[in-house]
Amino acid sequence: MFSPIHHTFAPLGDLSQCLLAFALTLQPWKYKRGAAVKRLERALAEKFECEAYTFGSGREALLALLKALKVRPGEEVIVQGYTCVVVPNAIHASGALPKFADIAEDTLNMDPASVEALMTPRTRAVICQHTFGIPADTTRLRALCDRYLPGRQAGGAVLIEDCAHSIPDQNQSMGYSGDFVILSFGRDKAISGISGGAVLSRDPATTMELRKIQGTAVDHSMWTICRLLQYPLFYAVARPLYGLWIGKALLKALRSLRLLIPILDVQEKEGSMSPVLHRIPNACASLALAQLRSLRKINDHRRMLTRFYFEEARKRGWRFPGAILPYSLLQKFPLFFPGAEQLRRALKAENIHLNDGWTGCVICPENIDLGKTEYVPGTDPAAEDVCVRILSLPTHPKTSLRQARRLVEAIQQQIDN
Ligand SMILES: Cc1ncc(COP(=O)(O)O)c(C=O)c1O
Repeated sequence: MFSPIHHTFAPLGDLSQCLLAFALTLQPWKYKRGAAVKRLERALAEKFECEAYTFGSGREALLALLKALKVRPGEEVIVQGYTCVVVPNAIHASGALPKFADIAEDTLNMDPASVEALMTPRTRAVICQHTFGIPADTTRLRALCDRYLPGRQAGGAVLIEDCAHSIPDQNQSMGYSGDFVILSFGRDKAISGISGGAVLSRDPATTMELRKIQGTAVDHSMWTICRLLQYPLFYAVARPLYGLWIGKALLKALRSLRLLIPILDVQEKEGSMSPVLHRIPNACASLALAQLRSLRKINDHRRMLTRFYFEEARKRGWRFPGAILPYSLLQKFPLFFPGAEQLRRALKAENIHLNDGWTGCVICPENIDLGKTEYVPGTDPAAEDVCVRILSLPTHPKTSLRQARRLVEAIQQQIDN
């Protein structure tokens, strides 16, 4: 009853992650370095049949890759509108310019026709994001990237798949077509190490550069790693109390004491990114590895809730992206409602918190400095239209089927009122 329905309260912090985080907290010698980093890289390399290099976060993994590709100032990287600000920030930090392709409403992914219109001899890479786990059209994007770009010495552009939101366990729907793949082990991603990310490479020359760049990455401080490890533990205490004032007060206190590390710092919200790359802490690699080993179970839960929302939405006549299937593997289930923001606000009174940061903005979250991202309003009309109508429902392991039932009933009640 007091436990909230939410997107961002340690959504992957289940009992086994809490126990492991607690055990790791007591072993500070395992914080920075240890065997887990190599084990995680080996497991990813085996799964995706490529080379894997880990970094401190997904955004750092992307920056490391763009550095390894030696992108030059003035070169362009195509990314979709409706993305997280850290993606254009990493592009800027590499010296390249982001170009924003529009999305297709039925996939929330980049529209290949819009990508084609943006491709020039300056295009160095296309970052194809599998938004919320809906697979992007990698076949068409692959063909576009492989096409010779007149005036470009090296031929075409590289295809980078961004699998931050979803890692498949049963098929090769995502992560197998790109020259490179970016993964995030952030707290609310496909799997969580609280923090961390990886680049997967299928290009031998870039692989060598990545290895060199990884060698220059620095460790996070012990204090930072210790705070990262407390994240699932703090939420395990605060979550059940969130419906009472005490849970909210506890989280507020933890934030103001800086014991909870924000996902975006002030500099990132203002559109820039530190050029310093970090190693993934060994402790975070341990957590991510444990979740990678439980990928099937995590994904089965997401598929179960996706099917439930799919059937309920169909039955109730709610709109959602056409590419979603009953068995899709979604990080969250997007619905379209004209008054999505009002609905979200009304649901808060019922301890239902559906603001996931991907609402009301083309470059997310809403409170960033849009001007600094170089996104020009009006560029991507479909993305601008979708982002104000979207209402996403959680599929993560901390959302039970019972809560999902309560959620759809609460939405229906608000619509009927
Ligand atoms: C689509 C996408 N790609 C990459 C990232 C970067 O991941 P990280 O938070 O690990 O830096 C994010 C983070 O929000 C994201 O949403």
